[in-house]
Amino acid sequence: MSLPVDAMGADGAHARRWMHEGAAQAHVEGQSALHFEAGAPRNISIFGLGYVGAVSLACLARDGHRVTGVDIDQGKLELLRNGQAPIVESGIQELTRTVTRNGAVTVTDSVRDAILATDLSFVCVGTPAQGNGDQDLTAILRIAEQIGAVLPQKQSQHVIVVRSTVKPGTVEGMIAPAIESASGLQAGQDFSLCFQPEFLREGTSIHDYDHPPMTVVGAGDDYGAELLRAVFGHLPCEFVRTTIRTAEMLKYACNAFHATKVTFANEIGRVSQAVGVDPHEVMRLLCLDRQLNISPAYLRPGFAFGGSCLPKDLKALLYLAKRQDVELPMLGAILPSNAAHIEQAIERVLASGRRSVGMVGLSFKAGTDDLRESPMVVMAERFIGKGLNLRIYDPAVNIARLIGANRRFIEESIPHIASLMTDDLRSLVRDAEVLVVGMKSPETLLALAEHTRPSQLLLDVAGLADRGAHRAQYQGVCW
Ligand SMILES: NC(=O)c1ccc[n+]([C@@H]2O[C@H](COP(=O)([O-])OP(=O)(O)OC[C@H]3O[C@@H](n4cnc5c(N)ncnc54)[C@H](O)[C@@H]3O)[C@@H](O)[C@H]2O)c1
Repeated sequence: MSLPVDAMGADGAHARRWMHEGAAQAHVEGQSALHFEAGAPRNISIFGLGYVGAVSLACLARDGHRVTGVDIDQGKLELLRNGQAPIVESGIQELTRTVTRNGAVTVTDSVRDAILATDLSFVCVGTPAQGNGDQDLTAILRIAEQIGAVLPQKQSQHVIVVRSTVKPGTVEGMIAPAIESASGLQAGQDFSLCFQPEFLREGTSIHDYDHPPMTVVGAGDDYGAELLRAVFGHLPCEFVRTTIRTAEMLKYACNAFHATKVTFANEIGRVSQAVGVDPHEVMRLLCLDRQLNISPAYLRPGFAFGGSCLPKDLKALLYLAKRQDVELPMLGAILPSNAAHIEQAIERVLASGRRSVGMVGLSFKAGTDDLRESPMVVMAERFIGKGLNLRIYDPAVNIARLIGANRRFIEESIPHIASLMTDDLRSLVRDAEVLVVGMKSPETLLALAEHTRPSQLLLDVAGLADRGAHRAQYQGVCW
């Protein structure tokens, strides 16, 4: 039985909500928090019985849920009716036979029957690539309309979870409107809509289902998020709730990262082979480094890299490969990508139309005086070239004391640098129309907090922790 209840939404608006048997509502610090019994059997429908759907169907049924599988492919439905899995995958035939025999699984091509029989739906239809690379959303939008047409007939709150990979904005910008216009209902109020990226890999998908790296749920309302916590909270990993768009983007970021790792190892393999080095040994040792290599180090969006080692050594590696006629397209694209990152920061400042720029930080890394290949120096050069009025503050850089290659580099890049540098951080912050902040020292933060004005533009290339602790107009370099 389901009971309609009125509850105060997180935004304070009264919303029509439904409370299922088994869901309890507690009030915590003035906000409503829903709790569903962890692991309790649920009525679940799965739309699309390909790799993702067939594995989810078998594993959810194994975990005690009553599962309805939906597909337009009659051949797949027939296989499941006969206790056979519609995919080839380690362990899936045995598991499918077991769960279909004990009556936990129903299959149908009727969206209506599936929605009316269940409270929670996973959408796992394909989102294949079109000729131009964009994804084909025909199947998922069709399903959304069909589900929407049935929802008004339901007496209980329905939770729809998109598991197909879709671009950021698709769930809220396309799928929600499709369901809403077909149903006349509102997402987050009359039904729940979530996005839960699927991390399984073909070949090891049952193992991956049971041991995901994390469970990530993008949710716009508590109801769907908490129901999913009850269904998946037992898995041996962190359960993370985030926004729908973050969860959508995360899936692309993960797959792009995996593809990057494969290509990186292969490019290192090709150049190693060409120069007679064992690539397996190189990569084995690379993976031994859990501080800088296999770690979160260097994996936060920030400013461009620079300094005396990374650009120089990358150039040398690319030259080595060229001499051996080895193509390294990915490694070869890194320096242009790094330059593009600096360029878009420069363009932000130039596009503002403001003429007076204050740069906080000049060296390639805060706290050092190494100016070689510093992205901040590249920016300064461009600002000078464009005739902007530039002042620079960096307490670690004392031009008079610079020696050797470091001195030669800065003299060639910005000959009159000394005349642009100031020790007076406060007046630099006060006077500039645009501040480019590449340091987050306590004195920088204090000066920003005390001396910025609402008319100033603040371009953050350092990743300030507190983005609101100043009065300027804030822009992050890539956030
Ligand atoms: N295969 C993987 O390892 C994997 C992993 C993570 C995420 N994903 C993503 O999950 C989604 C599904 O991938 P897959 O490999 O399972 O796809 P798939 O092509 O194997 O299966 C899709 C299924 O959807 C069915 N379908 C199509 N239109 C339908 C409709 N209108 N109603 C009901 N069923 C319909 C198809 O008949 C097919 O059985 C994709 O977005 C994919 O990117 C896949």
